Order: sequence, then C-alpha cells, then structure tokens
Amino acid sequence: MLINKAILPIAGLGTRFLPITKVIPKEMMPINGVPILQLLIEEAYKAGVHEFVLVINRQKESIIRKYLSREGKNEKLDRLNKLLDDVKIEYVYQDEQLGDGHALLQARESVEDEPFLVLFGDDLVIGATPDAPNAAKQLIEAHEKTGSSVIALEEIDPEMSESYGIIKPAPNETGPLYKVEDLVEKPSPSEAPSNLGVIGKYICTPDIWTPLSKAEASVGNEIRLIDGFKKLLSSKDLYGLKIEGKRYDTGTLEGYKKAVEEV
Ligand code: G1P
Repeated sequence: MLINKAILPIAGLGTRFLPITKVIPKEMMPINGVPILQLLIEEAYKAGVHEFVLVINRQKESIIRKYLSREGKNEKLDRLNKLLDDVKIEYVYQDEQLGDGHALLQARESVEDEPFLVLFGDDLVIGATPDAPNAAKQLIEAHEKTGSSVIALEEIDPEMSESYGIIKPAPNETGPLYKVEDLVEKPSPSEAPSNLGVIGKYICTPDIWTPLSKAEASVGNEIRLIDGFKKLLSSKDLYGLKIEGKRYDTGTLEGYKKAVEEV
C-alpha cells in the first residue's frame, strides 16, 4: 500500500537545548537558514508523502503554525510556499510528556488503517548526493518489498549504545535489510545485542496501534514506539534497514553544530 501520510511527533520540550528552546522550538533551529522541521517535511514529500500530522504542544503551536502558513510573498519564501501548496498539514496535541509512543497515539485517528511514515524531530540523514534516495524513500521501498513495519538503522559506536534503541537481527541476516528478532531500548554496551542502532525514522503498519496502546511505560517512564514494536514482534514480522547517508542527531548541541558545519 502506498505511503501518503507521515506523523511527526514534535511535542518535546527540548530541554537538552535550553536556553534557546524557552522560546524557539528545537525543530525550528535552522540548517543553512532552513528549519529542521521544513527539511523533514521535504524529506517525506520527496518520498511521495502529501499528508502530515504534527503532534505538537500548545507552547510551540503559534510559532509552528505561523511558519507553516502560506503568508508573505518574497522569492526567498518560494521554496516553502511551493511545498505548502502541495501538502496538507494537520495538528494534534500531546499535552503530557509521556513519550514518543504516547505522542503517536494522539495521531491515531488521523491515519486510521493506513501504513504511515514516522519522522522524529531530531534525526537528519543527508545522502551522499542530492539525487540519492533519501532515508524516507529508502524506508518506503523496504516496506513495499516486505509489506511490514520497517525501522531505520545505523551502525553505531558500541560505546554509545545507551543513547539508542538497538535491534537484535534474526540469525544469518546480513543486511542492509534485517529481519528483527528483538529490540532493546538504551542497553549498556555489554547488554547491546548488536551495533545496529535505531534512527528516529520508521514505517509503521496499522497493526502497531493495538500493541502500542497496550504498551507500558519503559525507559525514562515513557511509552516509546519501540515498546509497541516489541509487542508487535510476537505476531508480526518487523524489519530494520541500514540507511545509506550520514545521520545527524540535531537534538543535541554537538550534533546540531556538526549538521550546521557539514550539511
Ligand atoms: C528515541 C528512540 C530510540 C532511538 C532514538 C533515535 O530515543 O526511543 O530507540 O534510537 O530516538 O534518535 P530518544 O533519543 O528520543 O531518547
């Protein structure tokens, strides 16, 4: 089934990025003058997605809605306005900080029984060339091949496992597409089942909703998408795809600075 919808859970408070996030949502931080949020919407759009559900909080609402409104005429706005002409954006709220899985549940009614793309606000992947299929496109192609949910992966430094969800691939899987046997959120290096870390980009099939709605809070007392996937695994296949391109974690000052310098 075609993927036409994306959910962007961007209701987080950005505390890692204070003090600027007192007034500026971290997704509005610019890379070459363009907010990360726009780069993410463009990523999905280039992969064929036209409908977006943004999960926001009320503090961020006015600034994000204003940015994504088709206001003003100036050639420097052309790129944004053209994009806005061609996409539909809906907003839903997450009023409590209960995790990314909880954020997605707020958007459930908007996607109903369709598979959908999920892009977290922190993860940018830049391809080797502008024409290379972007991360969203790579995930969609893997979903078309498998018919299943697909998680974006990168090879991580094993010492960094506590910052990631880590998958355990099924035996004899050689990648870049891996059947997933299990997943662990933020394990210590000695407990990590592999060096394949989860990037915040996913295709979810609608059968994620039941397990996700039953998932209990885990690491950090939050309901995470990964908790839903863990439950899904008992009845459905799940895949991970090692993404081609360089990933930047723009949710940390270090990662953001790197993206500004290199992108
Ligand atoms: C989330 C996910 C984690 C993933 C990470 C990627 O964690 O829970 O599995 O590896 O995003 O950015 P967070 O960084 O929000 O704590």
